[in-house]
Amino acid sequence: MLRTIKSSKLEIGMYVTRFVKQTGNMNLTMAGWIKTEAAMKGLIAKGILEVEIDTSKTLVAKTESENKEKSEKQKPISFDNELSRATGLYQQAKSFQKKLLNAVDREIAIDVKQVEAMSNKLVDSLERNSNALLCLTSIREKDSYLLEHSINVGIMLATFATYLGFDKAKIQKLAFAGVIHDIGKIKVPDEILHKPGKLTDDEFVIMRNHVNYGGDYLSQFDDLEPSILETVMQHHEKIDGTGYPNKLRDDEIGMYGRMISIVDCYDAMTAERVYKKGMPSMKAMKILMRESGVHFDGDLVRKFIQCIGLYPAGTLVKMKSQKVGLVTKVNQAKPLEPEVKIFYCAKNRHYLASRDINLAASHCKEEIEEVIKAEDYKIDFQKFFTQAVA
Ligand SMILES: [Fe+2]
Repeated sequence: MLRTIKSSKLEIGMYVTRFVKQTGNMNLTMAGWIKTEAAMKGLIAKGILEVEIDTSKTLVAKTESENKEKSEKQKPISFDNELSRATGLYQQAKSFQKKLLNAVDREIAIDVKQVEAMSNKLVDSLERNSNALLCLTSIREKDSYLLEHSINVGIMLATFATYLGFDKAKIQKLAFAGVIHDIGKIKVPDEILHKPGKLTDDEFVIMRNHVNYGGDYLSQFDDLEPSILETVMQHHEKIDGTGYPNKLRDDEIGMYGRMISIVDCYDAMTAERVYKKGMPSMKAMKILMRESGVHFDGDLVRKFIQCIGLYPAGTLVKMKSQKVGLVTKVNQAKPLEPEVKIFYCAKNRHYLASRDINLAASHCKEEIEEVIKAEDYKIDFQKFFTQAVA
């Protein structure tokens, strides 16, 4: 996608297609990537004020100091050790999201660096143990959809990007975009935002405007990375051109835009709302598959499903033995045999001392019978997370 930015905002790796504004009369002989700090400074010194860049061609290269600051690798730790930390972080992200929405509603400026720092913390947690935060995305408070949805999209987008082999700088950008992608919804009246039934045409126009609200609000911040704004603007675009707000199609939608539309839709379908039950993940995956090549990039849908697995981390499963456990790790090679933390007995309806089992292990005799919901067995997930594991 083509964007115009100030030349002072150029970064190594950006692909310059045209000079837009300058004090002199220079011609760009050939479009190309900014490869060195010297090249960037050279353009500014020659009076180039604004350039057009093609964000779909941006390379990953970052300045040395940025790499050092953003890419410090976290040491991997166990699920149990990360879980209590991730639980605190998730709560922190929710209260942060509340402040963020409040700022957007009152049209007060936000500190982009603070939002970035929050989403980077989510990425760091995923790097230490990818499953702890992912598990938390499956626990929903019915009246917290707006807060939880954006955090969940940030977490799942970062997980998806990691699966696709993106480097940490890109993963951080996607987490950031996920966290802020729906901030424009705060401007949509509650009776439309939380309407249980189908929206009327007029209501749908207002609902669709949340993308432009968010985009307009975010575009005032010069220090916001252009690809993040672009991802926010494209999260409801569909590859057959029936999406909004710009009815983009196929390659007009960037890679990040195609990724976020899948993750956004998956989380919305599986979310518990005041007026509807969350859809089982398997059913949501079938809908994504059905819409492949129409609304979504088919290749990316397949990769997303491989990434989160048939039993995503956080799924509550009942074994044939009637023991109940939480999926704590997806097995990509054997999707029907994840790692599970057993902690409840469905037959006698009581908690068990938690223990980890790997369904793929040759000595393991347990087998998943079905996916269940916590409320069906009055399982207190909060109790499980705060006491049984931590
Ligand atoms: Fe949205």
